[in-house]
Parts: sequence; structure tokens; C-alpha cells
Amino acid sequence: MAITETEEVEKPLFEEYEETDLETPTDNIERVTPAIEFRDVKLFFDDRTILDGINFTVRRGETKVVLGGSGGGKSTIIKLILGLLKPDGGQIFIDGEEITEFDEPEMMRIRKKIGMVFQEGALFDSLSVYENVAYRLHEESVPEDEVEHEVRRMLRFVNLEDAIDKMPVELSGGMRRRVGIARALVGNPSIVLFDEPTAGLDPPTARTICELAIKLRDLEDASSIFVTHEMNNLEYLSSEYAVVDENGEVNFETEGEKLCLINTEVIMLREGKIIFSGKDEELRRSQDSYIHRFIRGK
Ligand SMILES: Nc1ncnc2c1ncn2[C@@H]1O[C@H](COP(=O)(O)OP(=O)(O)OP(=O)(O)O)[C@@H](O)[C@H]1O
Ligand SMILES: [Mg+2]
Repeated sequence: MAITETEEVEKPLFEEYEETDLETPTDNIERVTPAIEFRDVKLFFDDRTILDGINFTVRRGETKVVLGGSGGGKSTIIKLILGLLKPDGGQIFIDGEEITEFDEPEMMRIRKKIGMVFQEGALFDSLSVYENVAYRLHEESVPEDEVEHEVRRMLRFVNLEDAIDKMPVELSGGMRRRVGIARALVGNPSIVLFDEPTAGLDPPTARTICELAIKLRDLEDASSIFVTHEMNNLEYLSSEYAVVDENGEVNFETEGEKLCLINTEVIMLREGKIIFSGKDEELRRSQDSYIHRFIRGK
């Protein structure tokens, strides 16, 4: 179980991140400021309550898995973070900054910090893999040699550099998702939002996608929301962690092999409320009958 990578070791994906910075008091304050915070967020569509007082935080370097049945409001939470919807009550903070009332230009600035991974990969079918990943950089008129450097770096991260000249139709579903992830990571977002990134994928491919999220969490210090209703995704994200070995290769190890603190927590939504918030083990020990059924799938 190893995804081999060599380049990231000398060259972190998010270059501005330096470990030494963490030792200074100011950066410690930054680290305790959550990447994302919802305070009593409410949202109604017509007369229907979609979100009914949602409170949670995503700490820096944390992956928050959001579970919940269809129509539970998971994608709505993501739209609120991106400012595509505005809440009817409560407050939303990104990196300690309240974005609740932000207008479009202010949200554009916030969105630069955020990478978004959609369910289907959402690639432009008429553009090559290279052009898809380069899209944001081309829009910003970045010089082509820099664009190519970035695109190759991102494609290496998702192990798809060989597919750089392919068209989306030539790719498998799993490859399309990985290109979608590479595209989301352009611009080194400190926050990455995944909306059901493994839906419809076979289990090994789904695991590869989870391992990319783990790599982002453990090696790049990214803060993520990972929406899913697949329990095995939660298991991978809660029990595996990424380490770089002496040859510079990324390996995935399992909790229990060594003592470690895996930075993943889970919230479960039901009828607009958070009915569970905590660690995977606690969720599995829960006595709640809805949670039981959700976990067992019946
Ligand atoms: N623009 C809208 N207008 C009216 N109702 C909406 C709108 N967008 C979402 N909804 C409703 O809000 C509820 C939550 O939707 P949401 O897409 O957040 O669910 P979800 O948890 O992501 O579900 P799924 O697992 O199916 O993706 C649903 O009942 C949906 O019908
Ligand atoms: Mg959804």
C-alpha cells in the first residue's frame, strides 16, 4: 500500500509552509484560529429548514468528514463556505475572518484560499488534462513556463503526470477524479473541500482518493471538509496516516502500528442538525439507532 512520490520531499506542495515558522508565537496563534468555523448557522429554502443551528470548526491541518443521508444539507454547507449561498442566521468564519456578509469581490479573495473537488471531477471535456489543470493559471495570465511547472507538480501529486496530454474522455472515472483534485490544488489552497469525491468509484480507487486527502492532511497541512456517505472512506481517513520514508517515498501506515494522532474527526447531519461530532471510534460506539443503521447500512 504505497503511493510512490519523490518530488514533494524536497519541494512541499504548499511552498510557503515552513515548519520553523510554527515555533514563533504569532504562528501559534494562527494555528489555533480554526480554518473554518460555523456558529449557529441556519438556512431555510421556502418554508423548509435545511440547516438548523449548525456549529463546528475545522482546525488547521484537520480533515472533517461530514456524513449524512441524501438531502441532509452536506453540499449546502460547502456552498455556504464558498459564499454561493448566504445563511439566514448565524456566522461563518474562514481563517478567523467573518465571511457571512461578504460580497462577491470579497468572496473572490476568500475563494483563492479554497480548492474544490466536485463529485464527478467536473472536467471540461473539450480541454486536455494539461489545460484543465492549468485553467485557473491561464485565467490569471501566468507565464506558460510557470504554468507547465505547476501543472506537472500537481499531476505528480496525484500520480498522473503521464496523462498530461490526454483528453478527459480517455480517462477512467478514478483518473478524472484525480485530475479534478490536481486542478483544485492549483494555487496552493490551504482549505480543500471534497464533495463526495469517491461516489461511484470501485473500492481500491476510492481508497486512492482518500489517500490523496490523507497526503494533503499529513504532508501539506491542508484543512479539509470531506463529504461522503461511504463508511469505508471514514475508516481510511481515521486510521491511516502518511509518512515519507528515507528514500523520499510516501507510505501509508495504519494507526496501531505506531502511536499517532490522526487529525480526522467526523460530524453527522440529520434533518438540519448535527447529531454526532467526534472521533470515528466514538461514532462506532454510539448507541443512537439512526447512527447504528447508517453505519451498518440497514
Ligand atoms: N437551491 C435550492 N432550492 C431549494 N431547495 C434546495 C436548494 N438546494 C438544496 N435544496 C434542498 O436542501 C436540502 C439539502 O440539500 P443538499 O444538496 O445540501 O443535500 P446533501 O446532503 O448534499 O445530499 P446528497 O447526499 O444527495 O448530495 C435538500 O432537501 C434539497 O432539496
Ligand atoms: Mg450533496
